[in-house]
Amino acid sequence: SPFRSGVPSFSPISDPAAPNQPFVIGVTGGTASGKTTVCDMIIQQLHDHRIVLVNQDSFYRGLTSEELARVQEYNFDHPDAFDTEQLLHCIDTLKSGQPYQIPIYDFKTHQRKSDAFRQVNACDVIILEGILVFHDSRVRDLMNMKIFVDTDADVRLARRIRRDTVERGRDVDSVLEQYAKFVKPAFDDFVLPSKKYADVIIPRGGDNHVAVDLIVQHIHTKLGQHDLCKIYPNLFVIQSTFQI
Ligand code: ADP
Ligand code: C5P
Repeated sequence: SPFRSGVPSFSPISDPAAPNQPFVIGVTGGTASGKTTVCDMIIQQLHDHRIVLVNQDSFYRGLTSEELARVQEYNFDHPDAFDTEQLLHCIDTLKSGQPYQIPIYDFKTHQRKSDAFRQVNACDVIILEGILVFHDSRVRDLMNMKIFVDTDADVRLARRIRRDTVERGRDVDSVLEQYAKFVKPAFDDFVLPSKKYADVIIPRGGDNHVAVDLIVQHIHTKLGQHDLCKIYPNLFVIQSTFQI
């Protein structure tokens, strides 16, 4: 109790987001589950805040020439395919209010662009999206809210075939082979087990407008508390003390 010694001792803010730091939302789910679509819907509804979308895909390691020569044997769905140290540095930098230059990844060449970046600036909300953003506990610990987009595997595979043939320069056979060899096993080994960390699970992805509306309402509430914290730094300290 805060009154154990007879004198009220004020506890620290219970919300892990310090008032001056951006609110960080993690969005994960299997390939083509609708992560990006859900993020876009959230961003559209939060238009009065400064929001940055960070894609884990941007932090794919570029392939060496040996790896490129045998690209069908490369596992893009394993955690080691990403430069997680750099992703952590990116989120830390943005959380501290500094701008960051995010790499631009090309799914056709499996390389990062050597001469271009996406500059992102200080923001109120960071949305971090990707198949494995809940895998590393250090990345998870940076998040104030965790969302898992849950879409049936057959729907995801159908979307993936269309997307990878239309947008990523693949043929149907290579998409199916990669799916059976790497994508599905890694989903079972790494993505699905990370569902337990989610605060919210969205069935049917972007089709689920009710879930997205509820999430946006919650974010509005949290951002309102943040704004109040900036104006009255002691407000939530006192509130959390009396809730004990
Ligand atoms: P992810 O970011 O999880 O890979 P995306 O949101 O990019 O998923 O969606 C993958 C593909 O499926 C895209 O081509 C997108 O246009 C399509 N898609 C996503 N959600 C829906 C939906 N609710 N209905 C139809 N197509 C969708
Ligand atoms: O957008 P989505 O979440 O589907 O992106 C992740 C997927 O991209 C992974 O399942 C991985 O197999 C695929 N990928 C690929 N080629 C690359 C990099 C990633 O097919 N060069």
